Amino acid sequence: MNESMNIGPDLAPPSVASPPVAPPLAALLELTHRCPLQCPYCSNPIELERAKGELSTVEWLRVLDEAAELGVLQVHFSGGEPAVRRDLPELVAHARRIGLYSNLITSGVTLDRARLAALAEAGLDHVQLSIQDVDHQTAAYIANYPGVQGKKLAFARWVREVGLPLTLNAVVNRHNVSRVERMIDLAVTLGAGRVEVAHVQYYGWALRNRAALMPTLAQVQEATQRVEAARQRLRGQIVIDYVVPDYYARQPKSCMGGWGRQFLNITPSGEVLPCHAAQTIPGLTFDSVRNRPLAEIWTTSDAFQAYRGTAWMPEPCRSCDQREVDWGGCRCQALAITGTAAAADPACALSPAHQVLRGLADVASDAPAPDFSYRRMTPQQSAAKVAATAR
Ligand code: SF4
Ligand code: FES
Repeated sequence: MNESMNIGPDLAPPSVASPPVAPPLAALLELTHRCPLQCPYCSNPIELERAKGELSTVEWLRVLDEAAELGVLQVHFSGGEPAVRRDLPELVAHARRIGLYSNLITSGVTLDRARLAALAEAGLDHVQLSIQDVDHQTAAYIANYPGVQGKKLAFARWVREVGLPLTLNAVVNRHNVSRVERMIDLAVTLGAGRVEVAHVQYYGWALRNRAALMPTLAQVQEATQRVEAARQRLRGQIVIDYVVPDYYARQPKSCMGGWGRQFLNITPSGEVLPCHAAQTIPGLTFDSVRNRPLAEIWTTSDAFQAYRGTAWMPEPCRSCDQREVDWGGCRCQALAITGTAAAADPACALSPAHQVLRGLADVASDAPAPDFSYRRMTPQQSAAKVAATAR
């Protein structure tokens, strides 16, 4: 309230209306958690959802309609591996029909050229392909999938042949950090318009594998210099995005562009999340598109309201001039390190836990890398996966 306003005791206070919530820019649709790869930094939750719980084609079509009505501009078909869903072309075609820009986030190992061409024909706008490395052996080790790199290279060529724009996502960790420059050069060779060189973000599976993935500070600094040099060298040829590792940062990233501000994430069974790791936060409950309209969930659900805006912030964020720039950083990382989701992200130098974060990185990266704990379903979940046929 404006402090110059003087409300007399006999006057009813004005109703304090919440500011209207702007629609999200983008929706990440996790069509399935099924995936042939087992990357140890997967952003899917530790408890993977089974195929039998996935939304049906009819339900996803309705979700697309509701997203468009809400004002979403872009949909990202993701997973797991979204291409294991046989209805992907139908979903892509519907997105095109109702004016949504569609992006396919894929591992590139399940689609053949004909199915990719069918997706292009259906109206797909863009493909984002992840790579584990340029070194074939290390790539196979990270994905736990022999021959993975050869399949990805063939897929990337098909993407360009069918006329789709390509972004390459290179996920950086201690096993491949020395080859960031070669990953960027590979993106250029493959005709990608953009490459995202992203250090692993430590939630879920990656948090479980932190010691196996964490590079040293010296490795990160060298990689950063190489990325900068590549940016100079390749100016005008390719856009290079660089996501620094939180554990060595001094300022936090604006995670998801701020909680409940720009993005929403829908799980295979239809739960709507403010970010992919939000289910790690105790006490939050998530509504499902099976039970409530998407617009209602976005504007009023408890989970989206919990950390939206700045009112929830404690110090040091509450009085910080960056609070509407980074929105206090990442809630899930704050929880993972401090035990409190409402704390400042420890990636911030002003966080009391900042040195703790740095200490964890130093300890993890100084020790020899342990074996990976690969992303996989529990034996029970695996049985369900085998039984399920691709829809
Ligand atoms: Fe961001 Fe909070 Fe750190 Fe300020 S104190 S920079 S708002 S995380
Ligand atoms: Fe959940 Fe950052 S991943 S807020």
